[in-house]
Amino acid sequence: MINQRRSRIRDILSGSLTDKEVEVWGWIRTSRFSKTVSFISVNDGSCFDSLQLVVAYSFDLDKGQLLTGSCVRAKGQVVTSPGIQKFEVQVRELSIVSAADERFPLQKKRHSQEFLREIAHLRPRTNTHLALGFMRNTLATAIHGFFQARGFKYVHSPILTKSDCEGGGETFLVTALDPKKIAEAGKQFDWKEDLFGQPVFLSVSGQLEAEAMALAFGEVYTFAPTFRADPSETTRHASEFWMVEPEMAFYDFEDLRDLVAAFIKGITETVWKSCQTEIQFFNKFIEPDLTARYSTIMEQDFGQITFYEAQELLRKSGKTFEVTPDPEKDLATEHERYLVDEVFKKPLFVTHYPKVFKPFYMRQNEDGKTVACMDLLVPQVGEIVGGSQREERYDRLLKTMKDQNMNDDLRWYLETRLWGSAPHSGFGLGFERMLMYLTGMKNIKDVLAFPRASRRVW
Ligand code: 4AD
Ligand code: MG
Repeated sequence: MINQRRSRIRDILSGSLTDKEVEVWGWIRTSRFSKTVSFISVNDGSCFDSLQLVVAYSFDLDKGQLLTGSCVRAKGQVVTSPGIQKFEVQVRELSIVSAADERFPLQKKRHSQEFLREIAHLRPRTNTHLALGFMRNTLATAIHGFFQARGFKYVHSPILTKSDCEGGGETFLVTALDPKKIAEAGKQFDWKEDLFGQPVFLSVSGQLEAEAMALAFGEVYTFAPTFRADPSETTRHASEFWMVEPEMAFYDFEDLRDLVAAFIKGITETVWKSCQTEIQFFNKFIEPDLTARYSTIMEQDFGQITFYEAQELLRKSGKTFEVTPDPEKDLATEHERYLVDEVFKKPLFVTHYPKVFKPFYMRQNEDGKTVACMDLLVPQVGEIVGGSQREERYDRLLKTMKDQNMNDDLRWYLETRLWGSAPHSGFGLGFERMLMYLTGMKNIKDVLAFPRASRRVW
C-alpha cells in the first residue's frame, strides 16, 4: 500500500489495527469539547463510518480550529471502545492540516438535497453523498464484473459523432469555431471552415458503433457518458449521464430480455452484498421501502406486457389520467408510473411497441406494425432500460431509413447489413436511473456528482 504512514479509518474500524500506534488524516464531522476530554469525529473517505478521536491530554486545543470541515492529522493508539463504533483512537498528537471556519456550509444539521445541490463541490463530505459515491463505485464495477464474467468485451464508441442515433433531435452541436468572433468579423458561420468541415454532435448513444463491433466480437458493451439536449426539467433527465450499452450478435428478442433480467438482478445482488452499510443508511433516511425493493428485484420474476396489452389495461383501469390512454399514442409517464407503481409493483418489461414510436434500427415484427423492443420500467423511477432486437435485414432497414429521410451519414451502418449480417440485439441502461433505484434518491441531479441538466451547470 502506498503511503504506509497513514492508516485508513476503514482498517481501524475493521479491528485489524487494535492496540497499534496509527496516524490518521481526515475531515472533522463533529466535535464535542469538555474540560478533561474532547471527542472529535473524523472521516477520511475510506469508509462510510467516521472514527472517534478521543483527546484527553492536557495541552491546549485550539477549539476554534477544530470545527466541522477542518482537515486534521492525529497520531495515537487504537483502543476498543464502548461506543457505537467498536474502536476509537486515543490521541497523543493532533495537528490542524487546514482549518474550516463557521462559514463552512455543512454544519451538523441535516440539509435539504436542494441546498446541497448548490454546493456540489462540498456535498461529497455529507453522509448521503459519501454513501452515494460508494454505491456508484460499486455499481460501476458490478457492471464490468457482470459482463467480464460472461466474456463480453468492453469497447468504446466515439463521443463525437455525425448521427443522432435515437432520432430524437436532442443533440448538442460541437464546433471549434467561435460564433461570436465570426459575427464580430461580419462573417457568416460556415461549417466548411470548421475542424471537421461539417456539423458534428456529442453522442446520444454509443449503440450504432457498438453494433458494428458486436458483428466482429460477438458480445460487447460500452459504458460511457452520453449527452442529450433535452430541455425538460424533470427529476429523471440529465444533459450528461452515463449509459451501459451491451450489444450481442446471435441474440434474439427472448435472449435479450433474459439477459436484461439477469443483468439487473446480478448487479443488484452485488450491490446488496457489498453495500449493506450504505443501503441501511438510505433505508433509514431516504427511502423506507429500499430493502424490500432489493428483495423484489432479486427474488421475483419481472413482469411482462405488450404495449397493446398495457393500453388495454390502462383503458380498463377506471382511473382518470391527465393524458387519456390511446393505443394510437405512446405511453405517457403517468401511464408507465401507474403500471409499475400500482399494478405490477415490480420491474416490468413493456414490449412490442408500434414502430412509429421507436427509432429506425429496431427489428420489425411480422405483424408489420410493431417492433421487437422492450422498455424496462421500475417502481418510483420509471424507464431504466430501453432495448431491442436490431433490424438485421438490409432491405427492410434501407426502406425504413429512406422512409424517414435519413441522409447518407449512416451508410456505414447500413453496410454492416450488407456483408455477413447477423441477428443481434442490444439495450441501454441509464446508469444514474439505476443508481436512483438502488438508493431511493428522488432526483437524478443528486446521483451525479456534478450534474448537468437543463439550465444547470455547476
Ligand atoms: O431509451 P434510450 O433513449 O435508448 C437508447 O439510447 C438506445 N440507443 C439504447 C440501446 O439500445 N443501446 O436510453 C436508454 C436509457 C433509458 O432507458 C434511460 O434509463 C436512460 O438511458 N436515459 C436517460 N437518463 C438520464 N437522463 C436522460 N436524459 C436520459 N435519457 C435516457
Ligand atoms: Mg427509451
